[in-house]
Amino acid sequence: MNHRESLGLKIESGRIYALDQTRLPHEEIWLECDSPEAMSEMIKRLAVRGAPLIGVAAAVALGKYVEQGANLQQFTEKALMLRQSRPTAVNLMNAVDRMLKMAGSGPDISTGKFLHGPEVVVAEALSIFDEDVELCAKLGQLGAQYISDGDSLISHCNAGGLATVGIGTSVGAIKQAHRDGKRIHVFVDETRPLLQGARLTAWELAKEKIPHTLITDSMAAYAMKTKKIASVWVGADRIARNGDVANKIGTYGLALAAKAHGVRFYVVAPYTTFDENCESGAQIPIELRAEAEVVGDRAPLGTSAWNPSFDVTEASLITAWVCDRKLPFMNRK
Ligand code: MRU
Repeated sequence: MNHRESLGLKIESGRIYALDQTRLPHEEIWLECDSPEAMSEMIKRLAVRGAPLIGVAAAVALGKYVEQGANLQQFTEKALMLRQSRPTAVNLMNAVDRMLKMAGSGPDISTGKFLHGPEVVVAEALSIFDEDVELCAKLGQLGAQYISDGDSLISHCNAGGLATVGIGTSVGAIKQAHRDGKRIHVFVDETRPLLQGARLTAWELAKEKIPHTLITDSMAAYAMKTKKIASVWVGADRIARNGDVANKIGTYGLALAAKAHGVRFYVVAPYTTFDENCESGAQIPIELRAEAEVVGDRAPLGTSAWNPSFDVTEASLITAWVCDRKLPFMNRK
């Protein structure tokens, strides 16, 4: 596969490397992913994370597997395994399905032969990578229009360059506004329990020299009341047909607080985050992660915990969905 690079994923001399995001911000360690299993393991432990990045990472891992000589049957098995690595992010399913379709995978894979030849499957993986870069650039331009000079913003989790292979989605809009010369200030939600805001968004904003202040998640409502917040910016793991949005746990609470304070609430996501098979947020599977992520070393030994990794924000709480194309529910508003 030809050279590609991004903040969190790169292809160098035909090998795939992923930045281990669990080690950021203190260590920048690139790990080689030389099999679909290795990529799946990195996705499960959130070393590779963010819905669009996961989709691209799965696609290139499958492209590499084809280059290593997999036949259609082997390819299909690993694709289905990768597809299950993260239940909420539909970008993963969309990217894997695109790879399966290009490979010619279907009920009869017994011939073991690819529909158009292996090189076409590899090219599809790279086009999924390149498309994400373009989608992010477009989302950044579109989103930045809703940010004015002097605005204070709240950002939740990390929907930046680390969560995509481009500029990012909601953080991409913030970066674009800053690059356009707008003076903005970002309040960064730390994003319990794994601190993607504190560890990753703060890291990205610092790289771009965008003024920012870290807050704990529980400070967000009070910040809206006292800090003249203009708008809240989040990404999405899955958007249902009625506009409901699944995103990192805490997004729903932020949307409720934003509504109560008259603060605009923006969701930024490419079409690859849209699930046309999902009627409403009620059908979106929410990943439950290990209790230990919540308990840490703070609570008494043996304390039990509940750890839904995502929540669903109803469409009625969302001011606008910033997407590269018009989605069906957008006619409503
Ligand atoms: O568990 P994470 O860190 O992968 O969660 C990420 C998010 O919730 C993002 O907002 C979402 O995946 C969109 S990233 C552009």
